[in-house]
Amino acid sequence: MSGIAYPEPEPELSEAEKKSLQDQIALKLRERNAVLIAHYYTAPEVQELADKTGGFIGDSLEMARWGKNAPAETLLVAGVRFMGETAKILSPEKTVLMPDLGAECSLDLGCPAPEFQKLREEEPDRVAVVYANTSAAVKALSDYVATSSCAIDLIHYLDLQGKKILWAPDRHLGAYVAQETGADMLRWQAHCVVHDSFKEDALRDLKAEHPDAAVMVHPEAPAAVTAMADFAGSTSQILNKVREMDRKEFIIATETGIFYKISQACPDKVLIPAPTGGHGATCQSCAHCPWMRMSALPKLLAALESSQGHNVEVPEDIREKALLPVQRMLDFNQALKKHGSVEEMVRAGVRI
Ligand code: 13P
Ligand code: SF4
Repeated sequence: MSGIAYPEPEPELSEAEKKSLQDQIALKLRERNAVLIAHYYTAPEVQELADKTGGFIGDSLEMARWGKNAPAETLLVAGVRFMGETAKILSPEKTVLMPDLGAECSLDLGCPAPEFQKLREEEPDRVAVVYANTSAAVKALSDYVATSSCAIDLIHYLDLQGKKILWAPDRHLGAYVAQETGADMLRWQAHCVVHDSFKEDALRDLKAEHPDAAVMVHPEAPAAVTAMADFAGSTSQILNKVREMDRKEFIIATETGIFYKISQACPDKVLIPAPTGGHGATCQSCAHCPWMRMSALPKLLAALESSQGHNVEVPEDIREKALLPVQRMLDFNQALKKHGSVEEMVRAGVRI
């Protein structure tokens, strides 16, 4: 994506500084009746703090669900802005804080609401399903929200009812879902700068060096990379699969933040990062999301010390409209769990 403005990397902290900040943040969380909700892609010391303080670490769907049910007055969301907005959409009565409100996502940036609205108006017969990685304003223009852990099931469910889909914004995930479901999907063409950087040729070379390794890919990666996967799925699905699979080595094509939780869950397994297009300090988005890393410990503390400049606000008219498709996503997942499969849901006449 050209012309994208990446944030400056956060300053490195010593182990002593991390420990001291973690202690100060833990104290503030207690004082404010607040909980820390962190995405798998945040830095290890942030995930560790969420673990230690009774907070939550998960994928974008689980973060939304957990935040809604958490009996806390304040949610401190470590991740990117759409995650804070989703928390606010679902929990308007709670204060939702973010370490840095400038934590963007290239998918959100690649799908401005006025352009999406125009396409919606041009395609009135299509059901609009948008990825969670969008602004509240885009969600407000949609029929359903999906994350990578439920997109295939949701589109399959709609397809079985004969619906034609307008999908936005991730082009690789959209192509993968269309391939897996056979649904009629008109697809927006934005991409995640992190996952788009995984390279097929280099992955093939790495696989030749590690022939017994299983290849795990997040489907925001290009189709040629996902086609090489032993397993393709969302962050939590990858984590669960590594846990289950009887293999020693895994090549992982997603943001390297996930290594923290996988190593904790499977200390005996060997995790190898999948190769990207760039190298070292010259690459700003190779297997690490520059915006996720804005959730640095000093900013978490700053958000709890003074909400000013950290408070996530969603205008009420947009929030009300965005709530419908977000709630449908949660209801869909609950019904899927209850009925066991999309086919059973449809047979039982479930309509969401
Ligand atoms: P998950 O939905 O798997 O959490 O990943 C989405 C993502 O890219 C978050 O930035
Ligand atoms: Fe967006 Fe990609 Fe970063 Fe996730 S990893 S927040 S999809 S840019």
